[in-house]
Amino acid sequence: MAGRLEGKVVLITGGASGIGLASAEACAREGARVVISDINGTEGAAQAQRLAAAGLEVAFIRHDVTSEGDWRRVIDDTVQRHGQLDVLVNNAGIAVIAPLEEETLDGWRRTQAINVEGVFLGCREAVRVMKGRGGSIINLSSIEGIIGEPLVPAYNASKGAVRLLTKSTALHCAQNGYGIRVNSVHPGYVGTPLMVNVLGSMPASEAAALQQELVMVRIPLGRPAEPREIAHGIVFLASDESSYMTGSELVMDGGYTAK
Ligand SMILES: NC(=O)c1ccc[n+]([C@@H]2O[C@H](COP(=O)([O-])OP(=O)(O)OC[C@H]3O[C@@H](n4cnc5c(N)ncnc54)[C@H](O)[C@@H]3O)[C@@H](O)[C@H]2O)c1
Repeated sequence: MAGRLEGKVVLITGGASGIGLASAEACAREGARVVISDINGTEGAAQAQRLAAAGLEVAFIRHDVTSEGDWRRVIDDTVQRHGQLDVLVNNAGIAVIAPLEEETLDGWRRTQAINVEGVFLGCREAVRVMKGRGGSIINLSSIEGIIGEPLVPAYNASKGAVRLLTKSTALHCAQNGYGIRVNSVHPGYVGTPLMVNVLGSMPASEAAALQQELVMVRIPLGRPAEPREIAHGIVFLASDESSYMTGSELVMDGGYTAK
C-alpha cells in the first residue's frame, strides 16, 4: 500500500540518522513531502540528497532543537516552502550513560535541553502553524519513559517528561478544537548510532554482557528493533488511519515492558 501520506508535509527532527532517517524515507515513500532537520548539517544534507536522488521529496534544514530561534525559522521555512505543515516528528534526542552518583549538573541539563525543551519548543511552534487546519505531532519517548534503568537517570527523566508533555499537549489541542492529534512513541532497543554510542561508552565486557542479557532475557522477541520497524509506527501515527488516537502511547519494544 502506498500513498498513505499523499498531500501531507512532514517535518522530522534528528532526521540525519537512525529512526528519524528511516522515518523520513518511509514517509516519503508513502507520498509525503518531507523536511528533515538536524544539528549535523553535513550528514543531514547528504542523506536528503541521497533520498532525493532516489526520487523521493526530501529536503534538509540545519536545526538545533534547543534553540527557540532555530525552531521558529525551521517551521516558518517549511511552511513557506510547502505551504503547510501537517506532521511534526519530534525525534532528535541523545542518551548518555551516567548513573545518578556520576551524573553532572551540566550533563543532566544537556539531556533535558535536547530531549525535553526541544520537544516543548517543537510542540508549541507546530501548534502555532497547524491550528488552522489540524495535524499530527509525534513525540519520541522510549520504554525508558515508562520504566526505570539505573544507568540513565537523566534520560529516564527526559523521556518520562516527553510522555506526559504529549498528553498535556493532546488535551490542550482537543479542548481548543484544533484538530491536532499528539501521541508518543516508545521504542525499546533499536539498532541505531545512538545505541552504538551508548554501548561504545561502556567497558567492552560490560557492553557485551548487557547485549547478551538484552537478547537472551530482557527482550522477549530476542533481538533489537530495526529503525524501519519503528518508522512503520510513525507512518501510522502520521496518517489519517490513526484519526481516533490522541494522547496515547505507541509501545514498540519486542515485548520488553510486557513482563
Ligand atoms: N535507538 C534506540 O534504542 C532508541 C530507543 C528508544 C527511543 N529512542 C529515541 O529515538 C530518537 C532517535 O534516536 P536514534 O536512536 O535514531 O538516534 P541517532 O543518534 O541515530 O539520531 C539522533 C539524531 O538527532 C540529532 N541531534 C542530536 N542533538 C540534536 C540537536 N540539539 N538538534 C537537532 N538534532 C540533534 C543527531 O545529530 C542525530 O542525527 C531519540 O529521541 C531517542 O531517544 C531511541
